[in-house]
Amino acid sequence: MSNQREQWGSKIGFILAASGSAVGIGNIWKFPHMAGQNGGAAFTLVYLVCILIVGLSIVIGEFVIGRRTQLSPVGAFEKLAPKTGWKWLGFLGVGSAFVILSFYGVVGGWILKYTYISITGGFANLSNNPEAAGNVFNAFIAGTWGPIFWQVIFMAICVWVIIHGVRGGIEKWSKIMMPLIVILLVVLAIRGLTLPNGMEGLAFMFKPKFEDLTASGVLLALGHSFFTLSLGMGTMITYGSYLNRKQNLLNSALWVIFLDTFIAMLAGVAIFSTVFALGADPAEGPGLIFVILPSVFPQLAGGSIWGTLFFFLLFMAALTSAISILEVVTAYFVDQKGWSRLKATLLFGFVITIVGVFCSLSLGGGINITSFLGMSFFDFMDYLSSKYMLPIGGMFIAIFILKKWGVNQFMDELKQGMDKSFLSKQLITVLFWIATTVVGFIILIEVLDVLFGINLIQ
Ligand code: PHE
Repeated sequence: MSNQREQWGSKIGFILAASGSAVGIGNIWKFPHMAGQNGGAAFTLVYLVCILIVGLSIVIGEFVIGRRTQLSPVGAFEKLAPKTGWKWLGFLGVGSAFVILSFYGVVGGWILKYTYISITGGFANLSNNPEAAGNVFNAFIAGTWGPIFWQVIFMAICVWVIIHGVRGGIEKWSKIMMPLIVILLVVLAIRGLTLPNGMEGLAFMFKPKFEDLTASGVLLALGHSFFTLSLGMGTMITYGSYLNRKQNLLNSALWVIFLDTFIAMLAGVAIFSTVFALGADPAEGPGLIFVILPSVFPQLAGGSIWGTLFFFLLFMAALTSAISILEVVTAYFVDQKGWSRLKATLLFGFVITIVGVFCSLSLGGGINITSFLGMSFFDFMDYLSSKYMLPIGGMFIAIFILKKWGVNQFMDELKQGMDKSFLSKQLITVLFWIATTVVGFIILIEVLDVLFGINLIQ
């Protein structure tokens, strides 16, 4: 175990890296269509409450555990609760990293491919023809070598960043890419809003339609708050472990949450204003990005530039998240097994890519992988991680702080780097209890539904 642990170069570097992890495909792909289909502002409101109550406490919880132990999840729990089963919570995190990155890398590959198609003007013949765009997309993801080729490139870039370490890889690239993402999204949002009818997109996203908000929409908002904030698998523990005691953790957590939410909304505005202006179908759901947008961009003047900017910013967002997932695995082998960063990253980057290849192939590319719970292997990995692994991980992190480590110890560490704080022990305890109860309840609903077909929410 090394005693010269790498540290972030600056406070802002840490905040950008952590928000780089949070801001990803979840914000730009998932959030807009979830909000669009589940009651617009009504959904957004519920989502904000979830993020502020459950999300904020777990982000802070993870930062504090990481900074106190200066270790990635397995080592961190072992250090705070030696010789207990709590280290398995760390292993759950490492396992989640494998699961998530395997399918995330595949989507990262699709995004690269779409950036390439856009640069080379390939959207032109899809103009105003979502059906053709849908066929192109479906044929592409169901192919064998095409998606694998782009996935491998995406994963290789990811490995390359992580090999360069915390400061020279993660921090350096987050500092470049995060501001670029915001700038490009602002430009695209302005472009969309200034088109005729573009403002209708705003109404679609932000007008509260409480009649469209169902109980399952509320659950969706809660579940998504873990995925979008990269919580429950120790990403934020790992990033927190490269911090010194001068960082104000509450402040940093608030920044991460603010940037994550702001960027999700900005993405919604950029996408829906453009979609409405050109009369396309806003309720396309997941196909919005890969099907509707490619048929919409070519109708704008300079369409291939707008398309390229969009997919390139999506690529950057996906990359800054993917590296944080790979870092959890790398840090485990470096911290616990004494491996070199190079060896751990290369080997496990490779292993995860191979698992990802199976995700990709399960969408139709030749090998017929039998379905899991009636889903493709790709969807299963997404389902397993977003619905179970992350919420369970997050809930146990809260229980760990409440029941094992102790709120007093937790407060001691949290207070380092803060001048003053309105956070009392009581408030923290209440917040963690709320988080535990709420998340426990969602998991229960899911499990009852899957195992016994009991549907509590309809
Ligand atoms: N937060 C990322 C996103 O919104 C996904 C992610 C999940 C990253 C878990 C790290 C850990 O796309």
